[in-house]
Order: sequence, then structure tokens, then C-alpha cells
Amino acid sequence: MNRAALLEPIILSALEISNRVWLSPMCMYACEERDGQVTDLHRVHYGQYALGSVGLILTEATAVLPEGRVTPFDAGMWCDSHIESWRKVVDTVHGLGGLIAVQLSHAGRKAGHYPGLPGDVHMAITVPPGDGGWQALGGSGLPFGNYPTPRRACDDDLCFVVEAFGKAAQRAVAAGFDAVEIHAAHGYLLHELLSPATNDRTDRWGGNAVGRERLLRETAREVRAAVGPNMPVLVRLSVEDGAPGGLTAADTVRTAMRLVEDGVDLIDCSTGGLMAATTYRPGSGYQVRAGAVVHSAGVRTGAVGMITSAAQAETVVRTGQADVVLLGRELLRDPYWAQHAAIELGGPVTTPHRYYRAYQGQQLRFSISAW
Ligand SMILES: Cc1cc2nc3c(=O)[nH]c(=O)nc-3n(C[C@H](O)[C@H](O)[C@H](O)COP(=O)(O)O)c2cc1C
Repeated sequence: MNRAALLEPIILSALEISNRVWLSPMCMYACEERDGQVTDLHRVHYGQYALGSVGLILTEATAVLPEGRVTPFDAGMWCDSHIESWRKVVDTVHGLGGLIAVQLSHAGRKAGHYPGLPGDVHMAITVPPGDGGWQALGGSGLPFGNYPTPRRACDDDLCFVVEAFGKAAQRAVAAGFDAVEIHAAHGYLLHELLSPATNDRTDRWGGNAVGRERLLRETAREVRAAVGPNMPVLVRLSVEDGAPGGLTAADTVRTAMRLVEDGVDLIDCSTGGLMAATTYRPGSGYQVRAGAVVHSAGVRTGAVGMITSAAQAETVVRTGQADVVLLGRELLRDPYWAQHAAIELGGPVTTPHRYYRAYQGQQLRFSISAW
């Protein structure tokens, strides 16, 4: 029997990734000091996915500027002091045989809220200035839903954002990351500018598709220049806005193809998040179809969104709907999902060599691990 498509390696730029099960970026809101510094909790959290043989671990949205944080507790890459704390996380993952990419982000007009986690004192409301809150930066100056009105970005602000992504990417290289993902989905700054539903600008950052793509494409080129030719650069897009006048999959195909020209290796295909009033019906594999439209244009893609079973994930990759799958909540529930899927799909199971006793009778492959 042929090896499962999910367990085949994939090469992006000069990086070989051992399988097609990746961890989707998920904010942990765990930088308790509100300084963007990741801690031992992040080492354990991301390290467990290396033990669990996830092909590529994507970090949570990591802010390129402090005002680009979704919450005050987000991870950061906006200053050089973040390099050292991220390096500890990266070294832990590498020591356990894993690979890790950082998701660089600017939340734009959606920045500056409390996380609203169970047990929190504050619900998911805007952080007031008295508790360190800040006015969010928007592309249009229009608020997201009932959020406070953001400050409309001027030309200098947007140039500064492009530069900040580039500097953060340089820091990611210095911290030892294996790849970088640019977050241009879910209504965050790059997405707000990209979508005709929210970009009302008439300057060079709007006006037509070329103007609306400018911030994202300049950012992609800046990041590619910062990381050099060998490191994979990924972009997360909302393939469809599901909002009146918003982006369609056909629009996204054109953007994706231009991003490939700019040196992007793979589009991580999410959807939505742009407008507060959208009809959103998540169900099993709910974003796979939209992502497959981008993939059918010859662009390498990742599929994400309620992919939960090995058979489902294998079908997505084997039938060419995406090159890789990203799992979010399912990997929170089961960090060893990739190994369980490998067993279900007939192996081989990749495991740190010290765990081999757990898989006797299985076809084994050992992760390259110092541990
Ligand atoms: C707790 C949590 C935090 C998230 N944070 C991010 C994030 O930082 N960046 C991002 O692009 N998506 C984020 N997402 C979206 C996930 O990456 C993923 O696309 C979404 O949950 C759908 O996949 P799933 O059904 O496998 O969870 C988050 C989702 C969850 C549940």
C-alpha cells in the first residue's frame, strides 16, 4: 500500500517538512507581563507538538508593533528583546525534533481587547486607557462592529507597518525560526486594506485592486528580503469575506498568484473575520472548498477549519484540495493527533526514539531529536 499523502514530506524554499499535519496559529494570551515576552508556558505548549510529530508548528499571532496586539497578553516580535525569549521556545522545539514558524501579525482595527477567557475579570471588551489600552489603527477609520473608532492610518503609518513586518522577520531569523507566516486574514490590518468591502481609500493604498493589494504585497516583499531566499514565507488569507462587496475566491486567486511572484511559498487558506455582520456557518471542513479554488490555480495551499479525522485530512491532501492541513482546536484536544492519524493511515509513525516502546508492532520512523 502507498504511504498516506498526509505523511509525505513537503519542501518549501529550502526547508523539508516531514509531514502535512501542521498546527494552526492560535493565540494563547499568555504573556502575563503584557510585554510580548513568551515564557516557559509557551515552551511547553509548542514543545508538546514537536513530541507529537506535527510537521510544522505555527505560533500564535505575534505582534510586529505593540498597538497591533489583539490583547495586551499577545506575544510580540516588535523589539530585539523578544529574540531571546522566542529563541528558548525555538530551541525547545528543535531539541524535540520539530520545526516552528512564527505568525507575524498586526490586528489593525481589531486590536486592543481583553481576551475574555473563562475566569477572566474582564470580558472581551476594549481595554480602557487607564488599564494600558490604546487607540487601534485602521485602514479606513471605520470601526469593526461596535468596537471603538480606530485612527485612520496615514501614508507614513502604513510604511511604518511594512517596515515593522520586515524587522520582525529579521528577529524571527535571529531567534532561529524555520519559517514565517504573515497574517493577512480575519479582518486584521492587511486584510482590511485588501478587501473592497472595508478599504475606502483613494490614495495609493486603495482605489483599485492594485492599491488594495499594496500593503500586503509590500509586506510580503519586505519579509522575503528580510529572511533571504531559503526560508519559507507563508501568508494566511481569508479567501472569501462572506460579506457584501467583499473578496471572493476568484479575487483571492489573483492576489495569491501575485504573492507567489513576490516570493511567497504557500497560502494558508482561512475565510471571514472582516465584518461583524457576516453569516458564518462553521461545519466539518467548512473552509476547504474555498481554499481548493486557490489550489486549483497552481498555488500551494494549506486547508484549515474543522478538519478533525485522519480520513478527512488524508482526503483533502490526496485529492489535491490542498498541500497540507492545519489543525487548530483538534490539536488542542489531542497534541498527539498526528501520531494517531499515522497509525490509522497505516504509518509510519514518527516518534522521538525514547518513546519507541509505546509503538511496538508499528512501522516506526524516529524524529531527529537530541532529546
Ligand atoms: C483559541 C484560538 C486562537 C486563535 N488564534 C489565531 C491566531 O492567532 N491567528 C490565526 O490566524 N488564527 C487564529 N485562530 C484560528 C485558527 O488558527 C483556525 O483557523 C480556526 O480555529 C479553525 O480551525 P480549527 O477548526 O481546526 O480550530 C484561533 C483559533 C482559536 C480556537
